[in-house]
Amino acid sequence: MVQRRFEGKVVLVTGGGAGIGTGICERFHAEGAKVWIVDTNREGAEAAAAALNQVDNGKEHARRAVTAIVDISQETAVSALLDQIEVTDGRLDVLVNNAARFVLKSAEMAEERDWDNVMASNVKGYGLVSKHAIRVMKATKTRGSSTEASGCSIINLGSISSFVGQPGMCTYSATKAAVLALTRCTAIDCGPYGIRVNAVCPGPILTEATKRHAASQGKSMEEMVSELTGHMIQHRMGTPAEIAAAVAFMASEDASFVSGASLLVDGGYSAL
Ligand SMILES: NC(=O)c1ccc[n+]([C@@H]2O[C@H](COP(=O)([O-])OP(=O)(O)OC[C@H]3O[C@@H](n4cnc5c(N)ncnc54)[C@H](O)[C@@H]3O)[C@@H](O)[C@H]2O)c1
Repeated sequence: MVQRRFEGKVVLVTGGGAGIGTGICERFHAEGAKVWIVDTNREGAEAAAAALNQVDNGKEHARRAVTAIVDISQETAVSALLDQIEVTDGRLDVLVNNAARFVLKSAEMAEERDWDNVMASNVKGYGLVSKHAIRVMKATKTRGSSTEASGCSIINLGSISSFVGQPGMCTYSATKAAVLALTRCTAIDCGPYGIRVNAVCPGPILTEATKRHAASQGKSMEEMVSELTGHMIQHRMGTPAEIAAAVAFMASEDASFVSGASLLVDGGYSAL
């Protein structure tokens, strides 16, 4: 049975309009939170919000899912979004930096625009959203609406690519390794405010991104899945819900003594 650990809390999920991000939104919503679904993909974000608000129909806290169409690499837009959350809700309890661009290029093939593109979303974007979220979280705590030491937290989505080398993936993997450094350093800086910062690092999860990856390599999904799952302790792809469960744990009181950490949720991919 799903608990309701986030009743009355406000959660921002970047990239909530697809795949793992939508799974994370579903989990926090099911546990009672209001969820801000932030994405550049309007269609995906609105579909995710509509599905959640449908679930809410007829219930007391209806329309607990809202969308914001924001590119996380643009600071003016990010700052305005966090201002909007502060004015509307007066608090922010959890930030999940999940949005990412999948620019998969080797060092030989990557062009300057590939590096700029992938670094802008996957590193700078995580840093910028964190910066403005910390501002609102600090105000949340000052006003006393969140008093627990673990009341506010940031969870960054890393990857198995943060830890292991993979062919033709220099650009993406470099950003995912950077996410771990960003996580540790932000955790240290936020320690005095009682804001915990952690990373959840998925293994192969079946999403549109996986399908695009297979297509870009000229492989069928069957070939791709068999290649990935052949290299795992648990020979199967993971689901967005399994990643969402780990993210919800990191945001919860159960993880009150966890900060600056990274949790691999990869079916044993990186253990082999
Ligand atoms: N799918 C996997 O197998 C896998 C494995 C390891 C890690 N991850 C990580 O999980 C996270 C989610 O992956 P996914 O598979 O669900 O990806 P996805 O491509 O299915 O969804 C990503 C979402 O982020 C949005 N987005 C991208 N750039 C953005 C930006 N600059 N501003 C706002 N929104 C933006 C996209 O529009 C999309 O809706 C990523 O951080 C990814 O690195 C995924």
